[in-house]
Amino acid sequence: MAIIKVGKEDLKERDSALKELSEYFSALSVTKGRDITYNVRTYGCQLNESDSEKLCGMLQQMGLKEVTGDTSADIIIFNTCAVRENAEDRLFGNLGIVKADKKSDKDKIIGVCGCMTKVPENVEKIKKSFPYVDLVFDPQQLHLFPVFLRDSIGRKKQLVNISAEDYIVDDSLVPINRKRKFRALVPIMYGCNNFCTYCIVPYARGRERSRDLSEIVEELNRLADQGYKEVMLLGQNVNSYKGANGERFPAVLEAAAKIKGFNRIRFMSSHPKDISTEIVDMVAENPNIETHLHLPLQSGSDRILKLMNRPYNREDYLKTAHYFREKVPNGAISTDIIVGFPGETEEDFLGTLEVVKECAFDSAFTFQYSKRPGTKAASMEDQIPHDVVTERFGRLLELQNDLAYKSNQAKIGKTEEILIEGQSSTAPDILTGRTMSNHLVNFTIPEALKLPGKTADDYEGMLCDVKFTSARPYSVDGEMVKLK
Ligand code: 5AD
Ligand code: SF4
Repeated sequence: MAIIKVGKEDLKERDSALKELSEYFSALSVTKGRDITYNVRTYGCQLNESDSEKLCGMLQQMGLKEVTGDTSADIIIFNTCAVRENAEDRLFGNLGIVKADKKSDKDKIIGVCGCMTKVPENVEKIKKSFPYVDLVFDPQQLHLFPVFLRDSIGRKKQLVNISAEDYIVDDSLVPINRKRKFRALVPIMYGCNNFCTYCIVPYARGRERSRDLSEIVEELNRLADQGYKEVMLLGQNVNSYKGANGERFPAVLEAAAKIKGFNRIRFMSSHPKDISTEIVDMVAENPNIETHLHLPLQSGSDRILKLMNRPYNREDYLKTAHYFREKVPNGAISTDIIVGFPGETEEDFLGTLEVVKECAFDSAFTFQYSKRPGTKAASMEDQIPHDVVTERFGRLLELQNDLAYKSNQAKIGKTEEILIEGQSSTAPDILTGRTMSNHLVNFTIPEALKLPGKTADDYEGMLCDVKFTSARPYSVDGEMVKLK
């Protein structure tokens, strides 16, 4: 499969489609006597969030207005995830819901993109069961979305465009509508070469390809100038980054840490096979790199790791975790774990529980194994019965909940800097934010520190010190002691 680099010259057709669509929607807006709106619905990981910010950027450039929440928008794009079956089921459920809206409004446009579109069975199902979907395109061709959108308008038949190639586009050529005013998502590499036997991602996202370091640094400098306080370096395996001149991930991290203006440099996800003491040392030494490592374990059994095609063992993983704990004493480690991979015995599972205990993960994403068509594990013998998976999953959750609670309890009495994300969902006068170690914090502001005439949302992106007073299983509570 070829990897094609896309430059300015290659985007001429996209630019002319953008222009035609602006004119088309502007005329439609006059006819309807109102704004023309869009809604991009995102499923799955931060890379999808980042792709959605680009889709929104292009829709914004066409003169459209974003609406969220309901299905009233004129253009609805579903940016899908294929990692587990339940995300796919949700998409099909939601496509059913928009059918009536589509019937009653002939100008409405429904699009599906994202990882699900790279699984042929899904495309067949959309063609057969959801013929009213106007366009289907894959994540590799996101930059061509305006071309597909233009070509789908007025066309009687569903437009399906799934490419066999992998593209890498200079991100400065794609408009981005960033969702948070303090956080910039910056993909540094795309795709995955690892073919973990359970995972659909290498099929959905194609081969690994990294952006040029100079291009990343230019983007980071721009973001710092624009006032972003947090930058999230993203990649399916962010630390497998390989620049055109042989640069590796520490070079990207170092370049980001040197840029003045960022308070928080985050990175995810790291693959245990490519994690080095150098990266951990950089976390320990640079005050603007978050003291948090997301390091997917998947299983604590060497036998299962081998079956998963994960090229590290339990001992390697524990070594990294211990090194991190030693070097970054106030830091946090989070992980991903799959329960019920084919062939997993009770002994294998107990191995996972042991590693979880020893690492004392501050948080974890825990998943029940989901059979993905086309992956190697899907055809493995000894698929684990559902009741066994749920029983094991319950035990893992109980242990991990306890560890997360302890991690939050350990914060009580301390005062740390919080980057404020906005109003908490629990109460209007409570703010929410994160510590440098990515702990979620809900806190109050004493009257004396309140900014006159400001609402809770106005604090988004500000920094403050919070004294922690109590802990919950998934968050810490506290009170602001200083607004910075
Ligand atoms: N079943 C369950 N979990 C999976 N993940 C990836 N593929 C599957 C699957 N088939 C999990 C892994 C990965 C995270 C993003 O999703 O833990 O790290
Ligand atoms: Fe999937 Fe493994 Fe690649 Fe992660 S490293 S995206 S789990 S194949």
